[in-house]
Amino acid sequence: MLTNIAVFVSGGGTNLQALIDAEKAGIIKSGKIKLVVSSSPTAYALERAKNNGIDSVVVSRKENPDQKAFEEKICKALDEYKIDLIVLAGFMSILSEDFTKRYEERIINVHPSLIPSFCGKGFYGLRVHEAALAYGVKVSGATVHFVNEIPDGGKIILQKAVEIKDGDTPEILQKRIMEEAEWKILPEATEIISKKMLEEK
Ligand code: GAR
Repeated sequence: MLTNIAVFVSGGGTNLQALIDAEKAGIIKSGKIKLVVSSSPTAYALERAKNNGIDSVVVSRKENPDQKAFEEKICKALDEYKIDLIVLAGFMSILSEDFTKRYEERIINVHPSLIPSFCGKGFYGLRVHEAALAYGVKVSGATVHFVNEIPDGGKIILQKAVEIKDGDTPEILQKRIMEEAEWKILPEATEIISKKMLEEK
């Protein structure tokens, strides 16, 4: 038996790709990606799911302005696929306390900074790297953590530091943090938690 994984996305899906590649390479061996949930119908991540034979469902945030209705639709899909573990990989919608409580210690997220720096409400995507460069930090990185009702506030699972270099732009820094940190620690953490969940089943 394996841990059934759903990956939540909103955009390009390079972290989803890292998870798919890690499953193929046997780095993720205790879990299987069963479903991709996208909050946007135009996310390129959906193409990645399709190209790899993974089912996907779109629950548009725009077309579901009511949080409860949005989450009910997501839960329906998760139940249908008997999902054990949710991996947020560039998912740009905030989940309610009701939702995070329902999946307590069963949702993980990758954030592109060393939490508790440059995180919380309003810090997502390029904004995180803009803030890090504006502050002048010499080291940033990525964090994988459990998701609770506080944005980026759950227990930390893995972190990896990445050096900032002269001439970095938010785009250059984002790419380096993805390559050197996110695409490594997200699959690693996914395996750690999938394995733990199997042992507890
Ligand atoms: C990633 O850098 C991820 O860490 C970040 O968005 C990007 C999504 O890229 N997530 C957040 O900022 C969440 N607060 P991807 O779609 O190519 O994986």
